[in-house]
Amino acid sequence: MPSLSLKSARLQASPIRKLAPHARAAEARGTKVHYLNIGQPDMPTPPQMLAELHGLPLNRLAYAPSEGLPEARAAWSAFFSSWGIRFAPDEILVTTGASEAITFTLAVVAGGGGEVLVFEPCYTNYLSFAAQADVTMVPVTLRVEDAYHFGSEQRLRAAIGPRTKGVLLCNPSNPTGTVYTEQELDAVARVAVEADLFVICDEVYREFVFDGGAVRSFTRYGDLANRIIVVDSVSKRFNACGVRIGCMATTNREVLDVALRFCQARLSVATAEQRMVIPMLTDGRAYSERLCVEYQGRRDAVYNGLARLEGVTPHRSEGSFYTMTRLPIDSCERFAVWMLRDFQWEGETVCLAPGEGFYVTKGLGVDEVRIAFMYDAATLGRAMAVLERAVAAYPARRELARSAYRSDLLDVRG
Ligand SMILES: Cc1ncc(COP(=O)(O)O)c(C=O)c1O
Repeated sequence: MPSLSLKSARLQASPIRKLAPHARAAEARGTKVHYLNIGQPDMPTPPQMLAELHGLPLNRLAYAPSEGLPEARAAWSAFFSSWGIRFAPDEILVTTGASEAITFTLAVVAGGGGEVLVFEPCYTNYLSFAAQADVTMVPVTLRVEDAYHFGSEQRLRAAIGPRTKGVLLCNPSNPTGTVYTEQELDAVARVAVEADLFVICDEVYREFVFDGGAVRSFTRYGDLANRIIVVDSVSKRFNACGVRIGCMATTNREVLDVALRFCQARLSVATAEQRMVIPMLTDGRAYSERLCVEYQGRRDAVYNGLARLEGVTPHRSEGSFYTMTRLPIDSCERFAVWMLRDFQWEGETVCLAPGEGFYVTKGLGVDEVRIAFMYDAATLGRAMAVLERAVAAYPARRELARSAYRSDLLDVRG
């Protein structure tokens, strides 16, 4: 048999899903599993979106234009402007989720051997998107001690090399819940101009900022205008992951022209689904604001639960619907398997996403986990109580020497 490509070897199996067989086995034994590992919203898709699908006057499902239906591009433009972000409809390309938008964007700005800076821990699929686009992700490591903020531009500057073409920022962040400060965005903006970089803003969680905060958009930086590419999606803000509609937006005509060729090569995005999301894009802000209130309550339940765990100092997630934390455990991957295979408390256990998979740098995140807020606050509180019992009962539990933690690894990367 011929061997498979080098590129195939760069695609990792989803670290979030690899515990699934253990979870299924636990359920088969009758154990109730609290799934804190996956960011699939648990709440219903808005009925008006589903009603729209049923009412579509379509008698023929033809290819849509590669750049997106004109009415869908106009709806995205209206959506952005409700957030004070100005993109004309012809500066927007409709894509199959943010996933396709990010893959195309990476390919356009750095494909074929370029590098893009990314803050780690990061959304794990970035690495697979980069592999598809032949781009190397260069990590700038954030630490739980700093609530996963980077503070100043020094760290960014140190990571830039001759092949660096851009910086990718997920704001609010999956997996950490970080919402970057104005000073941090200023720092990214300064470095982007100084080093001639694109700024790729993944804002799929834009609405979910807690405690009255807000995402500050890069589009406010006049001198960055043609460097900015925003990627977005309806998946999370409208509880509609399966509709697979996203977009990329930029005022940079050259980027749009080349990205359109990628769009043309895949022909089009699903016609009915583009139509289906239009009402929510044009009039869905109140809906997602209500979701944000719900997620904030869930965040509090998780934070309070983590704060009760001995040896854990949780950081308070500022947005998205995730948090990451360090546990007093030797290997969170082994711990996650143990919880599913060997542990239950009152017939319940928890499925966690081990932290390692969210780091580009091998060896980091071994004692961290990501927790998604995909149950109501009461159920999350219960799941945290189960986790507390598991941490206490785990045989390989260890105390943290926080200050000394992995300083060796962090130092070499600067
Ligand atoms: C940060 C981030 N970006 C992009 C995506 C992909 O979104 P979509 O469903 O629109 O492809 C996700 C999905 O979880 C995500 O968390």
